[in-house]
Amino acid sequence: MKITVIHGQSHKGVTYKMTHTVLEFLMSSEDELKEFFLPKNGPGFCVGCNNCFLKGEEHCPGADKVQPIIKSMEESDVIILDSPNYVMEMSGGMKNLMDHFAYRWITHRPHGKMFTKVGITISSSAGALANHTVRSMAKQLKWMGVPKVYTFPLISNAMGINDLNEKKEQEIKSKAQKVATKVKKRVQNPHASLRSKIMFSIFRKMQSSPDAGWNPTDREWWINNGWTKDVRPWRQ
Ligand SMILES: Cc1cc2nc3c(=O)[nH]c(=O)nc-3n(C[C@H](O)[C@H](O)[C@H](O)COP(=O)(O)O)c2cc1C
Repeated sequence: MKITVIHGQSHKGVTYKMTHTVLEFLMSSEDELKEFFLPKNGPGFCVGCNNCFLKGEEHCPGADKVQPIIKSMEESDVIILDSPNYVMEMSGGMKNLMDHFAYRWITHRPHGKMFTKVGITISSSAGALANHTVRSMAKQLKWMGVPKVYTFPLISNAMGINDLNEKKEQEIKSKAQKVATKVKKRVQNPHASLRSKIMFSIFRKMQSSPDAGWNPTDREWWINNGWTKDVRPWRQ
């Protein structure tokens, strides 16, 4: 199994610990792990040039940082996004990377391999619920075609790793084990969900219509993949 982790922060705090506890339950010695830490391994801010949409992703000013991350995701069975809860959302570093992935949304040029992957989103917050943050990151993966995203939110009752009490450490272990068990099962039987198939078919219809010419780069992607005909990404 191949796993890509994108950390929405560069420090190794509570959220990092949650992710690594999941990995301990999930991985065996043959599995491969690639980790990216934001902002240090990521691109600069999206400048809104629209080059990714209109000319191609290689024309993004941040392509040298974006492409290795997205290629690692495309080669993985499991994609993990984690971030501490910052003002009830993912970190700015994570959101910035998500902006750079916009061209991979189903609305534009999704990668076919994303339709059979498994996602996990992880977030800790000090006192408020981190549910919105894990859902927000899950939404990003789902719009890239990922059919199933497991979420792992935690109220840490801590400002950082040094404040984490024993009870919370136990909670992390038990929740991480539950998530890992579900993910392992799903990885053995990768398949698209009804929701991802419906989303695909809505945008397939759009890209197949004679009026779909507003972005020829997107349209060519759908035609070249055979998706406007009978080919479906989850059957490859
Ligand atoms: C800029 C910033 C914003 C934060 N916003 C919230 C918040 O809105 N609600 C909350 O409960 N905790 C908030 N926190 C606290 C962290 O989410 C919490 O301490 C988390 O467990 C830290 O995880 P880490 O050790 O991985 O950094 C914030 C922390 C920072 C630094």
